[in-house]
Amino acid sequence: MAKTKTQFICSNCDFISARYLGRCPNCGEWGTFVEEKIQPETQSRKSRVGLDGKAAKVQKINQVSLEETPKVATDLKELNRVLGGGVVAGTLVLIGGDPGIGKSTLLLQVSGQLANHGKVLYVTGEESATQVKMRADRLQVGGDDFYLYPETDMEAIKKQVEELKPDFMVIDSVQTMQEPDLTSPIGSVAQIREVTADLLQIAKTNNISIFIVGHVTKGGAIAGPKILEHMVDTVLYFEGDRHYKYRILRAVKNRFGATNELGIFEMRDRGLAEVANPSEIFLEERLAGATGSAIVATLEGERPILVELQALVTPSVFGNAQRTATGLDRNRVSLIMAVLEKRANLLLQNQDAYLKAAGGVKLDEPAIDLAIAVAIASSYQDKESPASDVFIGELGLTGEIRSVSDLEGRLKEARKLGFARAIVPKNNLGGMDVPDGIKVIGVSTIKEALKLALD
Ligand code: TYD
Ligand code: MG
Repeated sequence: MAKTKTQFICSNCDFISARYLGRCPNCGEWGTFVEEKIQPETQSRKSRVGLDGKAAKVQKINQVSLEETPKVATDLKELNRVLGGGVVAGTLVLIGGDPGIGKSTLLLQVSGQLANHGKVLYVTGEESATQVKMRADRLQVGGDDFYLYPETDMEAIKKQVEELKPDFMVIDSVQTMQEPDLTSPIGSVAQIREVTADLLQIAKTNNISIFIVGHVTKGGAIAGPKILEHMVDTVLYFEGDRHYKYRILRAVKNRFGATNELGIFEMRDRGLAEVANPSEIFLEERLAGATGSAIVATLEGERPILVELQALVTPSVFGNAQRTATGLDRNRVSLIMAVLEKRANLLLQNQDAYLKAAGGVKLDEPAIDLAIAVAIASSYQDKESPASDVFIGELGLTGEIRSVSDLEGRLKEARKLGFARAIVPKNNLGGMDVPDGIKVIGVSTIKEALKLALD
């Protein structure tokens, strides 16, 4: 076969060059050139095919039928939830996450389950067939319709797909796959882009659902061009601290369901198990009567979860006070400490503060402010807050407690777990049905909240 010609294109301004250039002569940006295949003239352009494999047509919006796209549910309800019900035929799902977090484990388990619904082709560029088989045995994953293929060459993979005609595919990982026609190294932007374009073609023309594993950069984004995330239908991130057993699967893009949905798993000896009641695990190791601890009902996606926030405040030894935060944003912690100093008269400027969200979760939501403030004040004053209290509210710069979204859902979750009292933003309470069985107290300032929590 004649070698396909390639060209280099500036990803900033689409300037085309026959050879690689460090700086684009058109827009002046550095390092923006990526290699691309030149499509041979003879190859006729295929028209875009829809999910049903038919060519698209113009339709009046009123006449578009609202047939539900069929979804195949896996045995993992937490995964189905994140996918918006299940696996949709002919779609690409990208799963990103740190190395060792459990992406291969999850997809191996899911492949075993999907093999009950159709043919599965698991393409691995990272491990040998023996290695995957050993892991599969440990996870007790198998099935007659489960095919393993240790390969990285996209041409060979395409050929196998034609022969095997699988219903589901796993590509582990996109960074290890290569287009033999491109001279760019494996894992380069150009390779990832072409590989994904090919996978998209495979998925749409053969109606195959493809899970693609993507490595992440140090910054936490999926390595490769941004276009990768645009090309796929669903982007999931698998997160968690490798040193903890809990893992969170989060949808950041989903054409077939809500984003911000989240599934929680536990890494066990025999693979990933779903966690049906996450609040319990984030509270289970809470020490009774400890200072510097406060519970928040935080919203992860649509889902309220109760998490313990811990603070340790100690006098600084060196001039500059330290602020360290695990699972929380350090800038937010600094801001809350400044508000406490100014609006609640706590002398925190020469105190070191260490903050932590228990269980290795990452929280990023304004409604956790009040609980952080209470935990800090509790540690600083060495007074415990009642163990049956839960705190919800955003803290403003003037010390006001601002309202939050879905207070009702958060309160119900707190009540379900036996919390007796909730300190919440007063503004939230107007016109809201307060659930019975939990005492709800509205506060408007941080001072009021601390008085209730710590006196
Ligand atoms: P893996 O799925 O290989 O991660 P990724 O593909 O995201 O790089 O996960 C590997 C880690 O998971 C490894 O540190 C061991 C751990 N693990 C378990 O704890 N239990 C298990 O049953 C398996 C298969 C892995
Ligand atoms: Mg892996």
